[in-house]
Amino acid sequence: MTSTLISGISELWTLDPALDDRARPGDTTDEQVRHDAALVIEDGRIAWTGPAREAPSADAAVDLGGRAVLPGWVDSHSHLVFDGDRTAEFEARMAGQSYSAGGIGVTTEATRSASEEHLRELVRGRITEAVAGGTTCLETKTGYGLTVADELRAAALASALVQEEELDEATFLGAHLVPREFDGRDGRPDADDYVDLVTGEMLTAVAPHVRWIDVFCEQGAFDPEQSARVLRAGADAGLGLRVHGNQLGRSGGVALAAELGAASVDHVNHLAAADIEALAATAARATAPGDRPGLLAVDAGPTVATVLPACDLSTRAPLAPARDLLDAGAAVAIASNCNPGTSFTSAMSFCVTTAVLQMHLSLAEAIRAATRGGALALRRTDVGHLGIGARADLHVLDAPAAIHLAYRPGMPLTHRVWRHGLERSP
Ligand code: NIG
Repeated sequence: MTSTLISGISELWTLDPALDDRARPGDTTDEQVRHDAALVIEDGRIAWTGPAREAPSADAAVDLGGRAVLPGWVDSHSHLVFDGDRTAEFEARMAGQSYSAGGIGVTTEATRSASEEHLRELVRGRITEAVAGGTTCLETKTGYGLTVADELRAAALASALVQEEELDEATFLGAHLVPREFDGRDGRPDADDYVDLVTGEMLTAVAPHVRWIDVFCEQGAFDPEQSARVLRAGADAGLGLRVHGNQLGRSGGVALAAELGAASVDHVNHLAAADIEALAATAARATAPGDRPGLLAVDAGPTVATVLPACDLSTRAPLAPARDLLDAGAAVAIASNCNPGTSFTSAMSFCVTTAVLQMHLSLAEAIRAATRGGALALRRTDVGHLGIGARADLHVLDAPAAIHLAYRPGMPLTHRVWRHGLERSP
Protein backbone atom coordinates (compact mmCIF):
# COMPACT_ATOMS: atom_id res chain seq x y z
CA MET A 1 0.00 0.00 0.00
CA THR A 2 1.58 3.32 -1.06
CA SER A 3 0.46 6.72 0.08
CA THR A 4 1.04 10.21 -1.32
CA LEU A 5 0.75 13.43 0.65
CA ILE A 6 -0.35 16.38 -1.48
CA SER A 7 0.29 19.74 0.19
CA GLY A 8 0.56 23.36 -0.89
CA ILE A 9 -3.22 23.51 -1.44
CA SER A 10 -4.54 27.04 -1.03
CA GLU A 11 -8.18 25.99 -1.54
CA LEU A 12 -9.41 22.40 -1.30
CA TRP A 13 -12.95 21.81 -2.55
CA THR A 14 -13.80 18.52 -0.86
CA LEU A 15 -17.56 19.01 -1.42
CA ASP A 16 -17.74 16.24 1.17
CA PRO A 17 -21.27 14.75 1.18
CA ALA A 18 -20.89 13.99 4.89
CA LEU A 19 -21.15 17.76 5.49
CA ASP A 20 -24.19 18.32 3.27
CA ASP A 21 -26.75 18.59 6.02
CA ARG A 22 -25.25 21.93 7.02
CA ALA A 23 -25.77 23.42 3.52
CA ARG A 24 -28.77 24.78 1.68
CA PRO A 25 -29.88 22.17 -0.90
CA GLY A 26 -27.54 22.39 -3.88
CA ASP A 27 -25.16 24.75 -2.13
CA THR A 28 -21.77 24.37 -0.50
CA THR A 29 -20.69 25.13 3.06
CA ASP A 30 -17.45 26.82 4.05
CA GLU A 31 -16.40 23.50 5.64
CA GLN A 32 -16.61 21.85 2.24
CA VAL A 33 -13.93 24.27 0.99
CA ARG A 34 -10.78 24.14 3.13
CA HIS A 35 -7.96 26.69 3.06
CA ASP A 36 -4.22 25.92 3.53
CA ALA A 37 -5.01 22.26 3.26
CA ALA A 38 -3.41 18.94 2.44
CA LEU A 39 -4.68 15.52 1.46
CA VAL A 40 -3.43 11.96 1.36
CA ILE A 41 -4.08 9.46 -1.44
CA GLU A 42 -3.82 5.77 -0.63
CA ASP A 43 -4.58 3.01 -3.11
CA GLY A 44 -6.33 5.36 -5.50
CA ARG A 45 -8.68 6.76 -2.84
CA ILE A 46 -8.76 9.82 -0.62
CA ALA A 47 -7.46 8.64 2.76
CA TRP A 48 -7.17 11.95 4.62
CA THR A 49 -7.92 15.67 4.16
CA GLY A 50 -7.29 18.44 6.65
CA PRO A 51 -5.27 21.50 7.61
CA ALA A 52 -1.73 21.43 6.18
CA ARG A 53 -0.24 21.82 9.66
CA GLU A 54 -1.85 18.52 10.75
CA ALA A 55 -0.84 16.49 7.68
CA PRO A 56 0.40 12.97 8.40
CA SER A 57 3.55 11.60 6.76
CA ALA A 58 3.30 9.46 3.63
CA ASP A 59 5.48 7.39 1.28
CA ALA A 60 5.67 10.19 -1.29
CA ALA A 61 5.02 13.92 -1.22
CA VAL A 62 3.89 16.51 -3.77
CA ASP A 63 3.85 20.27 -3.09
CA LEU A 64 1.39 22.14 -5.28
CA GLY A 65 2.82 25.53 -4.37
CA GLY A 66 -0.38 27.26 -3.28
CA ARG A 67 -2.92 26.13 -5.87
CA ALA A 68 -6.62 25.32 -5.74
CA VAL A 69 -7.72 21.68 -5.91
CA LEU A 70 -11.18 20.56 -7.04
CA PRO A 71 -12.68 17.12 -7.52
CA GLY A 72 -12.20 16.20 -11.20
CA TRP A 73 -15.11 17.19 -13.40
CA VAL A 74 -17.83 14.55 -13.83
CA ASP A 75 -19.04 14.84 -17.42
CA SER A 76 -22.32 12.96 -17.50
CA HIS A 77 -23.23 13.57 -21.16
CA SER A 78 -21.02 13.00 -24.20
CA HIS A 79 -21.19 11.31 -27.60
CA LEU A 80 -17.57 10.37 -28.29
CA VAL A 81 -18.05 7.39 -30.64
CA PHE A 82 -18.16 9.02 -34.05
CA ASP A 83 -16.21 9.78 -37.20
CA GLY A 84 -16.71 12.48 -39.81
CA ASP A 85 -16.77 16.23 -40.06
CA ARG A 86 -19.61 18.71 -39.49
CA THR A 87 -17.74 21.99 -39.81
CA ALA A 88 -19.79 23.05 -42.87
CA GLU A 89 -23.00 22.63 -40.87
CA PHE A 90 -21.50 24.67 -38.05
CA GLU A 91 -20.43 27.46 -40.43
CA ALA A 92 -23.92 27.54 -41.94
CA ARG A 93 -25.34 27.85 -38.45
CA MET A 94 -23.07 30.74 -37.63
CA ALA A 95 -24.34 32.34 -40.87
CA GLY A 96 -27.90 32.13 -39.57
CA GLN A 97 -29.24 28.62 -40.18
CA SER A 98 -30.85 26.98 -37.20
CA TYR A 99 -29.85 23.58 -35.80
CA SER A 100 -31.91 20.65 -36.93
CA ALA A 101 -30.99 17.14 -35.92
CA GLY A 102 -30.60 16.09 -39.57
CA GLY A 103 -26.82 16.23 -39.28
CA ILE A 104 -26.95 13.13 -37.08
CA GLY A 105 -27.44 11.23 -40.36
CA VAL A 106 -24.21 12.67 -41.78
CA THR A 107 -22.22 11.51 -38.75
CA THR A 108 -23.99 8.13 -38.81
CA GLU A 109 -22.83 7.47 -42.39
CA ALA A 110 -19.24 8.40 -41.58
CA THR A 111 -19.25 6.35 -38.37
CA ARG A 112 -20.66 3.26 -40.05
CA SER A 113 -17.86 3.37 -42.63
CA ALA A 114 -15.04 3.86 -40.11
CA SER A 115 -12.92 0.87 -39.13
CA GLU A 116 -13.14 -0.33 -35.54
CA GLU A 117 -9.49 0.46 -34.98
CA HIS A 118 -9.91 4.01 -36.26
CA LEU A 119 -13.01 4.60 -34.12
CA ARG A 120 -11.19 3.35 -31.03
CA GLU A 121 -8.31 5.73 -31.69
CA LEU A 122 -10.70 8.63 -32.19
CA VAL A 123 -12.48 7.89 -28.90
CA ARG A 124 -9.21 7.45 -27.02
CA GLY A 125 -7.98 10.80 -28.37
CA ARG A 126 -11.18 12.50 -27.21
CA ILE A 127 -10.85 10.98 -23.74
CA THR A 128 -7.27 12.26 -23.52
CA GLU A 129 -8.47 15.75 -24.43
CA ALA A 130 -11.22 15.61 -21.80
CA VAL A 131 -8.85 14.46 -19.05
CA ALA A 132 -6.38 17.19 -20.00
CA GLY A 133 -9.13 19.68 -19.19
CA GLY A 134 -9.77 18.25 -15.73
CA THR A 135 -12.47 15.67 -16.50
CA THR A 136 -11.95 12.48 -14.53
CA CYS A 137 -15.33 10.74 -14.86
CA LEU A 138 -16.89 10.46 -18.27
CA GLU A 139 -20.09 8.99 -19.67
CA THR A 140 -20.47 8.34 -23.39
CA LYS A 141 -23.25 7.20 -25.69
CA THR A 142 -23.80 5.13 -28.79
CA GLY A 143 -26.17 6.74 -31.29
CA TYR A 144 -24.25 7.18 -34.54
CA GLY A 145 -24.63 3.55 -35.63
CA LEU A 146 -28.41 3.04 -35.71
CA THR A 147 -28.24 -0.56 -36.99
CA VAL A 148 -28.01 -3.55 -34.67
CA ALA A 149 -24.42 -4.26 -35.74
CA ASP A 150 -23.26 -0.62 -35.58
CA GLU A 151 -24.90 0.14 -32.23
CA LEU A 152 -23.45 -3.08 -30.84
CA ARG A 153 -20.00 -2.12 -32.14
CA ALA A 154 -20.19 1.31 -30.48
CA ALA A 155 -21.50 -0.15 -27.20
CA ALA A 156 -18.82 -2.85 -27.12
CA LEU A 157 -16.13 -0.24 -27.80
CA ALA A 158 -17.39 2.00 -24.99
CA SER A 159 -17.82 -0.95 -22.65
CA ALA A 160 -14.24 -2.14 -23.28
CA LEU A 161 -13.00 1.34 -22.40
CA VAL A 162 -15.09 1.22 -19.20
CA GLN A 163 -13.43 -2.10 -18.33
CA GLU A 164 -10.03 -0.51 -18.95
CA GLU A 165 -11.07 2.39 -16.66
CA GLU A 166 -10.62 4.95 -19.43
CA LEU A 167 -14.34 5.71 -19.53
CA ASP A 168 -16.77 5.38 -16.63
CA GLU A 169 -20.28 4.91 -18.01
CA ALA A 170 -21.77 3.71 -21.30
CA THR A 171 -25.25 4.55 -22.62
CA PHE A 172 -27.35 3.04 -25.42
CA LEU A 173 -28.80 5.77 -27.64
CA GLY A 174 -30.18 3.69 -30.51
CA ALA A 175 -33.17 6.07 -30.41
CA HIS A 176 -31.12 9.08 -31.51
CA LEU A 177 -32.75 9.56 -34.92
CA VAL A 178 -34.69 7.34 -37.31
CA PRO A 179 -32.08 6.26 -39.87
CA ARG A 180 -32.65 6.90 -43.56
CA GLU A 181 -33.32 3.23 -44.39
CA PHE A 182 -36.54 3.53 -42.34
CA ASP A 183 -37.99 6.21 -44.64
CA GLY A 184 -41.47 5.09 -45.65
CA ARG A 185 -43.08 5.28 -49.12
CA ASP A 186 -44.04 8.91 -48.49
CA GLY A 187 -40.37 9.72 -47.84
CA ARG A 188 -41.03 10.34 -44.13
CA PRO A 189 -39.25 8.33 -41.45
CA ASP A 190 -41.21 5.43 -40.01
CA ALA A 191 -40.33 5.97 -36.37
CA ASP A 192 -42.66 3.27 -35.03
CA ASP A 193 -41.00 0.55 -37.11
CA TYR A 194 -37.57 1.73 -36.00
CA VAL A 195 -38.66 1.80 -32.34
CA ASP A 196 -39.66 -1.87 -32.78
CA LEU A 197 -36.07 -2.61 -33.77
CA VAL A 198 -34.55 -0.48 -30.99
CA THR A 199 -36.69 -2.07 -28.30
CA GLY A 200 -36.26 -5.56 -29.71
CA GLU A 201 -33.20 -7.02 -31.38
CA MET A 202 -31.02 -3.93 -30.89
CA LEU A 203 -31.68 -3.64 -27.15
CA THR A 204 -31.08 -7.36 -26.64
CA ALA A 205 -27.69 -7.07 -28.35
CA VAL A 206 -26.56 -3.86 -26.67
CA ALA A 207 -27.94 -4.13 -23.12
CA PRO A 208 -25.14 -6.36 -21.74
CA HIS A 209 -22.60 -3.62 -22.59
CA VAL A 210 -24.24 -0.57 -21.01
CA ARG A 211 -25.74 0.70 -17.76
CA TRP A 212 -28.07 3.28 -19.34
CA ILE A 213 -30.60 3.82 -22.12
CA ASP A 214 -31.29 7.26 -23.60
CA VAL A 215 -33.75 8.67 -26.13
CA PHE A 216 -33.91 11.91 -28.12
CA CYS A 217 -37.47 12.98 -27.31
CA GLU A 218 -38.01 15.82 -29.76
CA GLN A 219 -40.13 16.74 -32.75
CA GLY A 220 -38.38 15.17 -35.75
CA ALA A 221 -36.85 12.42 -33.62
CA PHE A 222 -39.13 10.49 -31.22
CA ASP A 223 -42.41 11.70 -29.74
CA PRO A 224 -43.23 11.14 -26.06
CA GLU A 225 -45.15 7.93 -26.78
CA GLN A 226 -42.31 6.43 -28.81
CA SER A 227 -39.80 7.67 -26.23
CA ALA A 228 -41.77 6.02 -23.43
CA ARG A 229 -41.68 2.71 -25.33
CA VAL A 230 -37.91 2.96 -25.62
CA LEU A 231 -37.44 3.85 -21.96
CA ARG A 232 -39.83 1.20 -20.63
CA ALA A 233 -38.10 -1.48 -22.70
CA GLY A 234 -34.74 -0.28 -21.36
CA ALA A 235 -36.00 -0.39 -17.78
CA ASP A 236 -37.31 -3.93 -18.36
CA ALA A 237 -33.82 -4.87 -19.53
CA GLY A 238 -32.40 -3.52 -16.25
CA LEU A 239 -31.02 -0.24 -17.62
CA GLY A 240 -31.22 3.18 -16.00
CA LEU A 241 -33.04 5.93 -17.90
CA ARG A 242 -31.74 9.14 -19.45
CA VAL A 243 -33.57 11.52 -21.79
CA HIS A 244 -32.59 14.22 -24.28
CA GLY A 245 -35.52 16.52 -23.57
CA ASN A 246 -36.87 19.97 -24.48
CA GLN A 247 -33.79 20.92 -26.50
CA LEU A 248 -35.53 22.40 -29.55
CA GLY A 249 -39.00 22.98 -28.13
CA ARG A 250 -41.43 21.86 -25.43
CA SER A 251 -41.13 18.25 -26.52
CA GLY A 252 -42.66 16.57 -23.50
CA GLY A 253 -39.29 14.98 -22.72
CA VAL A 254 -38.94 16.60 -19.33
CA ALA A 255 -42.40 15.54 -18.14
CA LEU A 256 -41.74 12.01 -19.38
CA ALA A 257 -38.35 11.81 -17.68
CA ALA A 258 -39.83 12.96 -14.36
CA GLU A 259 -42.79 10.60 -14.68
CA LEU A 260 -40.67 7.53 -15.46
CA GLY A 261 -38.04 8.33 -12.81
CA ALA A 262 -35.17 8.93 -15.24
CA ALA A 263 -31.83 9.67 -13.60
CA SER A 264 -31.34 12.69 -15.84
CA VAL A 265 -33.01 14.82 -18.48
CA ASP A 266 -30.51 16.72 -20.54
CA HIS A 267 -30.67 20.00 -22.55
CA VAL A 268 -33.83 21.42 -20.87
CA ASN A 269 -33.73 24.64 -22.92
CA HIS A 270 -37.47 25.12 -23.42
CA LEU A 271 -39.24 24.69 -20.10
CA ALA A 272 -42.73 25.60 -18.94
CA ALA A 273 -43.25 26.40 -15.26
CA ALA A 274 -44.82 22.92 -14.92
CA ASP A 275 -41.61 21.29 -16.19
CA ILE A 276 -39.53 23.08 -13.58
CA GLU A 277 -42.03 22.12 -10.88
CA ALA A 278 -42.03 18.48 -12.05
CA LEU A 279 -38.22 18.31 -11.84
CA ALA A 280 -38.16 20.05 -8.46
CA ALA A 281 -40.75 17.59 -7.16
CA THR A 282 -38.44 14.68 -8.00
CA ALA A 283 -35.74 16.16 -5.78
CA ALA A 284 -37.64 14.78 -2.80
CA ARG A 285 -37.25 11.22 -4.11
CA ALA A 286 -34.78 9.33 -1.98
CA THR A 287 -31.71 7.72 -3.51
CA ALA A 288 -31.09 4.05 -2.80
CA PRO A 289 -27.87 2.07 -2.59
CA GLY A 290 -26.92 0.11 -5.69
CA ASP A 291 -25.48 -3.36 -5.90
CA ARG A 292 -21.84 -2.24 -6.34
CA PRO A 293 -19.75 0.00 -4.08
CA GLY A 294 -19.84 3.64 -5.17
CA LEU A 295 -22.97 3.15 -7.28
CA LEU A 296 -26.57 4.06 -6.47
CA ALA A 297 -29.62 2.29 -7.82
CA VAL A 298 -30.38 3.68 -11.27
CA ASP A 299 -34.14 3.84 -10.63
CA ALA A 300 -34.17 5.88 -7.40
CA GLY A 301 -33.46 9.52 -6.60
CA PRO A 302 -34.20 12.78 -8.39
CA THR A 303 -34.39 13.38 -12.11
CA VAL A 304 -31.38 15.64 -12.51
CA ALA A 305 -31.72 18.56 -14.93
CA THR A 306 -28.48 18.47 -16.89
CA VAL A 307 -27.63 21.74 -18.60
CA LEU A 308 -25.18 21.84 -21.50
CA PRO A 309 -23.82 25.39 -21.76
CA ALA A 310 -21.38 24.75 -24.63
CA CYS A 311 -24.17 23.20 -26.70
CA ASP A 312 -26.45 26.17 -26.01
CA LEU A 313 -23.76 28.54 -27.29
CA SER A 314 -22.85 26.42 -30.31
CA THR A 315 -26.48 26.10 -31.41
CA ARG A 316 -27.36 29.66 -30.38
CA ALA A 317 -30.21 28.21 -28.34
CA PRO A 318 -31.79 29.99 -25.40
CA LEU A 319 -29.60 29.12 -22.43
CA ALA A 320 -31.14 26.45 -20.21
CA PRO A 321 -32.73 28.14 -17.16
CA ALA A 322 -30.28 26.69 -14.64
CA ARG A 323 -30.88 29.57 -12.22
CA ASP A 324 -34.66 28.99 -12.16
CA LEU A 325 -34.14 25.24 -11.78
CA LEU A 326 -31.88 25.69 -8.76
CA ASP A 327 -34.16 28.30 -7.23
CA ALA A 328 -37.08 25.89 -7.56
CA GLY A 329 -35.10 23.18 -5.76
CA ALA A 330 -34.29 20.91 -8.73
CA ALA A 331 -31.04 18.95 -8.85
CA VAL A 332 -28.79 20.40 -11.58
CA ALA A 333 -25.76 19.01 -13.39
CA ILE A 334 -23.47 20.61 -15.95
CA ALA A 335 -22.06 18.46 -18.77
CA SER A 336 -20.17 19.05 -22.01
CA ASN A 337 -22.35 17.13 -24.51
CA CYS A 338 -19.19 16.66 -26.57
CA ASN A 339 -20.44 15.63 -30.05
CA PRO A 340 -19.74 16.68 -33.66
CA GLY A 341 -23.07 18.43 -34.26
CA THR A 342 -23.96 20.69 -31.38
CA SER A 343 -20.98 20.88 -29.04
CA PHE A 344 -17.58 19.75 -30.28
CA THR A 345 -15.82 20.40 -26.99
CA SER A 346 -15.20 18.44 -23.82
CA ALA A 347 -14.00 21.55 -21.97
CA MET A 348 -15.91 21.32 -18.70
CA SER A 349 -14.07 24.33 -17.27
CA PHE A 350 -15.50 26.40 -20.14
CA CYS A 351 -18.98 25.05 -19.31
CA VAL A 352 -18.55 26.03 -15.66
CA THR A 353 -17.32 29.49 -16.64
CA THR A 354 -20.33 29.94 -18.92
CA ALA A 355 -22.71 28.78 -16.20
CA VAL A 356 -21.35 31.48 -13.91
CA LEU A 357 -21.05 34.31 -16.44
CA GLN A 358 -24.14 33.64 -18.54
CA MET A 359 -26.49 31.41 -16.54
CA HIS A 360 -26.04 33.36 -13.31
CA LEU A 361 -24.94 30.47 -11.11
CA SER A 362 -22.59 31.22 -8.25
CA LEU A 363 -19.13 29.68 -8.59
CA ALA A 364 -19.98 27.15 -5.86
CA GLU A 365 -23.23 26.18 -7.58
CA ALA A 366 -21.50 25.72 -10.93
CA ILE A 367 -18.61 23.68 -9.51
CA ARG A 368 -21.02 21.52 -7.58
CA ALA A 369 -23.20 20.96 -10.67
CA ALA A 370 -20.13 19.88 -12.69
CA THR A 371 -18.94 17.46 -10.00
CA ARG A 372 -21.53 16.25 -7.48
CA GLY A 373 -24.36 17.06 -9.93
CA GLY A 374 -22.85 14.91 -12.67
CA ALA A 375 -22.19 12.13 -10.17
CA LEU A 376 -25.84 12.17 -9.07
CA ALA A 377 -26.97 12.16 -12.71
CA LEU A 378 -24.88 8.99 -13.11
CA ARG A 379 -25.99 7.63 -9.75
CA ARG A 380 -22.42 7.46 -8.41
CA THR A 381 -21.16 8.24 -4.92
CA ASP A 382 -17.47 7.47 -5.53
CA VAL A 383 -16.74 10.55 -7.66
CA GLY A 384 -17.55 14.26 -7.72
CA HIS A 385 -16.18 14.92 -4.24
CA LEU A 386 -13.04 14.43 -2.18
CA GLY A 387 -14.53 13.03 1.01
CA ILE A 388 -12.72 10.14 2.68
CA GLY A 389 -12.97 7.00 0.53
CA ALA A 390 -13.77 8.87 -2.69
CA ARG A 391 -11.86 8.05 -5.84
CA ALA A 392 -8.71 10.17 -5.86
CA ASP A 393 -9.72 12.26 -8.89
CA LEU A 394 -8.11 15.68 -8.53
CA HIS A 395 -8.20 18.74 -10.74
CA VAL A 396 -5.42 21.14 -9.75
CA LEU A 397 -5.87 24.68 -11.04
CA ASP A 398 -3.00 26.92 -11.96
CA ALA A 399 -4.54 29.52 -9.68
CA PRO A 400 -4.78 30.12 -5.95
CA ALA A 401 -8.58 30.11 -5.96
CA ALA A 402 -11.29 28.50 -8.06
CA ILE A 403 -12.96 31.84 -8.76
CA HIS A 404 -10.22 32.30 -11.38
CA LEU A 405 -12.24 29.91 -13.58
CA ALA A 406 -14.79 32.69 -14.07
CA TYR A 407 -12.47 35.64 -13.45
CA ARG A 408 -10.03 34.57 -16.18
CA PRO A 409 -12.34 33.01 -18.78
CA GLY A 410 -10.64 30.93 -21.44
CA MET A 411 -7.25 30.82 -19.74
CA PRO A 412 -5.61 27.35 -19.56
CA LEU A 413 -6.07 26.87 -15.82
CA THR A 414 -5.75 23.07 -15.59
CA HIS A 415 -2.34 22.50 -13.97
CA ARG A 416 -2.32 18.81 -12.98
CA VAL A 417 -4.86 15.98 -12.97
CA TRP A 418 -5.04 12.77 -10.92
CA ARG A 419 -7.48 10.01 -11.86
CA HIS A 420 -7.90 6.88 -9.72
CA GLY A 421 -4.94 8.23 -7.71
CA LEU A 422 -2.63 8.27 -10.74
CA GLU A 423 -1.31 11.45 -12.26
CA ARG A 424 -2.70 12.03 -15.78
CA SER A 425 -1.41 15.55 -16.25
CA PRO A 426 -1.74 17.42 -19.55
O1 NIG B 1 -27.16 16.02 -27.57
N1 NIG B 1 -29.70 16.28 -29.61
C1 NIG B 1 -29.34 15.20 -29.91
N2 NIG B 1 -28.10 14.72 -29.90
C2 NIG B 1 -26.90 15.52 -29.82
C3 NIG B 1 -26.56 16.16 -31.11
C4 NIG B 1 -26.28 15.18 -32.16
C5 NIG B 1 -25.79 15.72 -33.46
O2 NIG B 1 -26.27 16.74 -33.98
O3 NIG B 1 -24.92 15.04 -34.01
C6 NIG B 1 -27.02 16.51 -28.68
O4 NIG B 1 -26.99 17.72 -28.87
